[in-house]
Amino acid sequence: MLSLPLASTPASAGVAGTPGSPGAGDPYFPTQGNGGYDTQHYDLALDYNPSSNALQGAATITSRATQDLSAFNLDLVDTLTVRSVTVNGAAAAFTQSGSELTVTAALAPGQTFTTVVRYDGKPTHVLDPDGSRDGWIRTSDGVYNANEPQGAMTWYPGNHHMTDKATYRFSVTVPDTRVAVANGDLTSRSSGGGRTTYVWDARQPMASYLTTVSIGKFELTDTTLGGYRTITAVDPKLAGQATGFAARHAPVLDYFSSLFGPYPFSSTGGIVDHEPNVGYALETQTRPIYPRVPSENLLAHELAHQWFGDSVTPERWQDIWLNEGFATYAEWLWADRRGVRTVQAAFDAAYAVPAGDAFWQTPPADPGGPADLFHDPVYDRGAMTLHALRAKVGDTAFFAILKGWASTYRYGNASTADLLALSEQISGAQLDTLFDAWLFQPGKPAL
Ligand code: TRP
Ligand code: ZN
Repeated sequence: MLSLPLASTPASAGVAGTPGSPGAGDPYFPTQGNGGYDTQHYDLALDYNPSSNALQGAATITSRATQDLSAFNLDLVDTLTVRSVTVNGAAAAFTQSGSELTVTAALAPGQTFTTVVRYDGKPTHVLDPDGSRDGWIRTSDGVYNANEPQGAMTWYPGNHHMTDKATYRFSVTVPDTRVAVANGDLTSRSSGGGRTTYVWDARQPMASYLTTVSIGKFELTDTTLGGYRTITAVDPKLAGQATGFAARHAPVLDYFSSLFGPYPFSSTGGIVDHEPNVGYALETQTRPIYPRVPSENLLAHELAHQWFGDSVTPERWQDIWLNEGFATYAEWLWADRRGVRTVQAAFDAAYAVPAGDAFWQTPPADPGGPADLFHDPVYDRGAMTLHALRAKVGDTAFFAILKGWASTYRYGNASTADLLALSEQISGAQLDTLFDAWLFQPGKPAL
């Protein structure tokens, strides 16, 4: 078969229409995501060998063209080799360059199309601008798979900006000695020839930075607790410390449901890995991943993200405080509920940082750039912003704003400007000065 020249054919040669943009236009990560189409569903079939790190993938992606296309891009690092691409069943020409996979296809605006990408290789994580690792992070027995902000492109092709949410199915085949855990609901498990295939369905829309396929020697539990299907995976090294881990979810979710509205997803749970070299947990949708057994604060933080970050997702990375400020505030709420510390005391402790401290120089809604996404002011000053809003509008309006935010933008994306508009609409107060001082101006806001 004369397939060799395909990969070097100019991607849009001889095809009518306009190539889709290679990025979604996010200033912090300009090549992340792609323009010209909108993705609805990913079906990822993965086969992984932990000892050799060999991954084989087949990604079946259902999308809709939003313009007349001659070609479109997917994000996938070129350490993985694409073997073939089909669009609506027909072989398509493609090129790989850096993290852009460009596929030639003539598509009409509004047309739904199915892309199948077959690829393989030895995935590796990426280094983020802040120096942390993200993506396919190998552990002693598998993979710690955390993809915020840009790791998804290290293991599957996709439209990897947070504005293009989709549903997912993951079918992951690993040796019988390992477990593959992903987002959503475990729908089947089948073994043969020394290998086991786990199928996970994530039925509610998800941004790709919230996906995970984590692999290891896990103890898997799947039970319904307090009405929530709770699926946990715990590294056996931590089993002793993790006693009761599954049962810790329902009380937090019940409390947050009473404040934020119904839990948005069809299952919950968590992945507790033993990964001392990764410093962070992540709110992977339905099933956060933790590098150790989480404290009650950390558990509450990641579960609050299910409403704030996962169901309601920012439109751009600069607005990350909408995730981290809300999740930090939820930690304060849960600590108050448990009688550990009042929200007011948490605010006072955070506000006590002296005005001259560098902390106050970073406004949470304008943290500076992609290296500053997860800096303290995004979390703590973000949470303080919510408390300042609460003090200004009163408890009734404030909790109506939190519920309204979760319901209005459920499964979607929203911006800081949307929060201001909703807060003013619900409270009837004028809040632009408060938002500006707390979120956009350097310096310690006055009370
Ligand atoms: N979103 C995570 C949390 O707060 C934190 C996180 C994700 C992070 N990626 C990171 C922190 C990289 C530091 C570096 O739950
Ligand atoms: Zn967080």
